[in-house]
Amino acid sequence: RAEADPLRPRFHFVSPAGWLNDPNGVSQWNGTYHLFYQYNPEGAFHHRIQWGHATSTDLVTWTDQPVALEPSAGPDAEGCWSGVLVNDGGTPTLVYSGRFEDRELPCVAVGSPDLLNWTKDPANPVIAAPPAGVDVTAYRDHCVWREGTKWRQLVGSGIRQRGGTAFLYESADLRRWDYIGPLFIGDASQGDPADTDWTGTMWECVDLFRAGHGSLGSAPADGSPDVLVFSAWNDGDTRHPLYWTGRYAGDSFEPAALHRLDYGGRFFYAPQSFEDESGRRVMFGWMQEGRSDAAMVEAGWSGVMSLPRTVTAAEDGTLRFAPVPEIKKLRRDHASLPGQVLGTLLAPLETGVSGKQLDLELDLQLAPGALVRVGVLGSTGGATSGSPAEETVIEVRRAVDGAGNGSLRLDRTRSSLDPAVDAEDKSGPVPMPGGRVHLRVILDRSAVEIFANGIALTARVYPTLGGDHVSLAAEGTAQVLSLNAWTMADIFDGTRSLFP
Ligand code: FRU
Repeated sequence: RAEADPLRPRFHFVSPAGWLNDPNGVSQWNGTYHLFYQYNPEGAFHHRIQWGHATSTDLVTWTDQPVALEPSAGPDAEGCWSGVLVNDGGTPTLVYSGRFEDRELPCVAVGSPDLLNWTKDPANPVIAAPPAGVDVTAYRDHCVWREGTKWRQLVGSGIRQRGGTAFLYESADLRRWDYIGPLFIGDASQGDPADTDWTGTMWECVDLFRAGHGSLGSAPADGSPDVLVFSAWNDGDTRHPLYWTGRYAGDSFEPAALHRLDYGGRFFYAPQSFEDESGRRVMFGWMQEGRSDAAMVEAGWSGVMSLPRTVTAAEDGTLRFAPVPEIKKLRRDHASLPGQVLGTLLAPLETGVSGKQLDLELDLQLAPGALVRVGVLGSTGGATSGSPAEETVIEVRRAVDGAGNGSLRLDRTRSSLDPAVDAEDKSGPVPMPGGRVHLRVILDRSAVEIFANGIALTARVYPTLGGDHVSLAAEGTAQVLSLNAWTMADIFDGTRSLFP
């Protein structure tokens, strides 16, 4: 191909070739960050999955490392599926799902001190079968942590006719596991009565952690919630990350409330988090594609890793997200807009900002009922009356009741002239105390990550016209307290091909 693909992100991690899905083994080891990921270098489709590997000293730029795990004769002959990295008394150890004969079982591999060479345990699989007598929908993916003198592990699953679950195990050596029981069992309809399968028949990529202070299993010194993150899955369309807040103690999890983790749903899928050496909780998610299987194969690449995000607990125990501050290193040209009242704009406001790789920060003050639209990737005109041929519109709205409620919406109906790409509406509630909104929009060609007061909405867009226009529009009375925009640099230099 003669030209770089204009839709391929340039400052998000993408695989050097072919296909990428879940983040795996995310961690910091002796200062170095490690990102492993579900990888098929053979093409942009999901097959014979390996563990790709990249390292970073700053969570911003990444160095490709040799593939860490590849299928081989035995229990992972059909794929090395998702899992985690743990520190076993100084020995880097992976716990992952080996796929063989159309099912997955837990496997272990140990690494060299530099985490580049991995040796599979000859005793794999380390758990021979799902719990006896339980009719499981699936059984895979792992969350492993140290508790006292023992290891504990969750394996994602679901019990037929009941709901998604995670099975709890305990081990002294990561090799022999005693089954304890289901951590708890979801009810598939929980959370959204309109969707009978909201919590899925299977919980993929479970991730249990204490959000805030203290470690899992210890008595909480403050209100820090325990959080169980999972990706709700079923045979149909259900694919979205959710989390329960609650309390994990003893052998069970007492759920308090269920929440959506990212309003983009499947566009921030299979997230995995870790606590880094500075004590922050950092999460990555897989930004899957919104185009057809054939279009992915044609493009030659598929899948984007989200920027790493910090995860914190708000006062009410729900989670807040923000891109790690290190990302600001990539900021280059700066533009800003003076504070001003937008009033009801009939014509969109020229922002003077343009680009396909941008970091936008807006502080807004909305009157009850007011809304602000930010248009990006516009090919002409702007966010309302101008009706550009293509434009992606981000909308924040304050509820009319004047209380601190509002919403965030991503309107992709005009993002692309290509009728085949996903354009489903994405939205959800956002707390807006006093009508204040801090809106952050990170745009990297086909990748969009939006944070409104720490609530995340992640998605993909496929503009065909190459527009890079940014516009602002409002209904009702809205004040822009500040708007700052930066173009963002590429993270891969010319040595890494933009054509997989
Ligand atoms: C989630 C998932 C995991 C599985 C992996 C396979 O996207 O389906 O459940 O381990 O991807 O690549």
